[in-house]
Amino acid sequence: MTILVTGGAGFIGANFVMEWLSGADEKVINLDKLTYAGNLESLKCLEGNPAHVFVQGDIGDSALVQDLLQKYQPRAVINFAAESHVDRSIHSPGDFIQTNVVGTFHLLEAVRAYWNELPEDARTDFRFLHVSTDEVYGSLAATDPAFTETNRYEPNSPYSASKAASDHLVRSYHHTYGLPVLTTNCSNNYGPYHFPEKLIPLMIVNALAGKALPVYGDGQQIRDWLYVKDHCSAIRRVLEAGRVGEVYNVGGWNEKPNLEIVNRVCALLDELRPREDGQSYQEQISFVTDRPGHDRRYAIDARKLERELQWKPAETFETGIRKTVQWYLENQQWVENVQSGSYRDWVEKNYDGRSA
Ligand code: NAD
Ligand code: TYD
Repeated sequence: MTILVTGGAGFIGANFVMEWLSGADEKVINLDKLTYAGNLESLKCLEGNPAHVFVQGDIGDSALVQDLLQKYQPRAVINFAAESHVDRSIHSPGDFIQTNVVGTFHLLEAVRAYWNELPEDARTDFRFLHVSTDEVYGSLAATDPAFTETNRYEPNSPYSASKAASDHLVRSYHHTYGLPVLTTNCSNNYGPYHFPEKLIPLMIVNALAGKALPVYGDGQQIRDWLYVKDHCSAIRRVLEAGRVGEVYNVGGWNEKPNLEIVNRVCALLDELRPREDGQSYQEQISFVTDRPGHDRRYAIDARKLERELQWKPAETFETGIRKTVQWYLENQQWVENVQSGSYRDWVEKNYDGRSA
């Protein structure tokens, strides 16, 4: 048996592939374009493992995807590949349309052609699992209930709009062609191998480098945080037992304002790697100009997943954030290696000119 994973050199995909292969020997074909966010170093522990086949390529390359499907005959495709950073989508929305919308369309077409030709049993058992985000539902007011699977789609950034479009395409391939799809919409992830452009790893990395900790606006925007390995276990569970055509929200009931997150990261660093001058890392916090169109609050109601598939997260925010900070302290080389020229260019583009 084999599965095809796309975007498996990115943050969540790499965690998923490593978890998958640590629990079973079912082969993983890992198709990843290796954009700035893809990093083979994250998969170093799989070097020489015959159950992991890495292929550099684009989900939008139909010929390549069709070849891979024919050659390896996977029983499932799990689609992580995407452009995933909201701030980048504000600077360069075109890349998001290309991969998240057009790329997902080409992937679906290749998968549909392959699935159509499968023998009856394999057709029934096949799954296309699309990994999506809670951001498609838009922004909540302070007292609104958390997002359920039936919330209206109201995406506000080019990132969330492109993910919303991909979710709709996936849905349509089930309704129109009968492709056995599953969709997961997850809240903000954090954990090992997270590229340091996103809030939590950026704060850890900047704090240790003695740099400013840039908090957008008033820092009171709320996100609902889930440890990445819990997201991976949810995806496994949905793949295993999710009802075809259904959507499952994934979250850990951990709503927190950004400033509280940054303060918690600072407190953990104060404990685990105190500053030489005895001051707290909080001294480095700097309030900067807000992100345009910044969503105020996300919150996931994950009761459907819990009720139907008995899934629950294993980590609390406290245990997960401690593990994460520790991982970054122990993996400084990984951090240094991802801070290439293109990373520095991005930091300059996004943060220079945001007045403190
Ligand atoms: P990431 O940016 O860290 O990784 C994306 C990966 O996809 C990279 O390895 C990149 O090289 C690859 N990729 C990009 N374009 C590609 C293309 N055209 N063809 C093949 N590979 C391509 O993203 P992530 O944080 O790991 O997110 C993975 C998925 O989970 C995304 O679909 C994202 O929308 C979704 N998601 C992320 C979060 C989060 O908090 N990070 C939360 C919910 C959902
Ligand atoms: P991010 O990690 O980019 O995820 P998303 O935008 O997909 O939720 O950002 C999380 C929150 O942190 C979001 O409200 C924006 C905020 N943020 C900052 O305040 N400063 C930063 O430098 C970054 C990258 C994000």
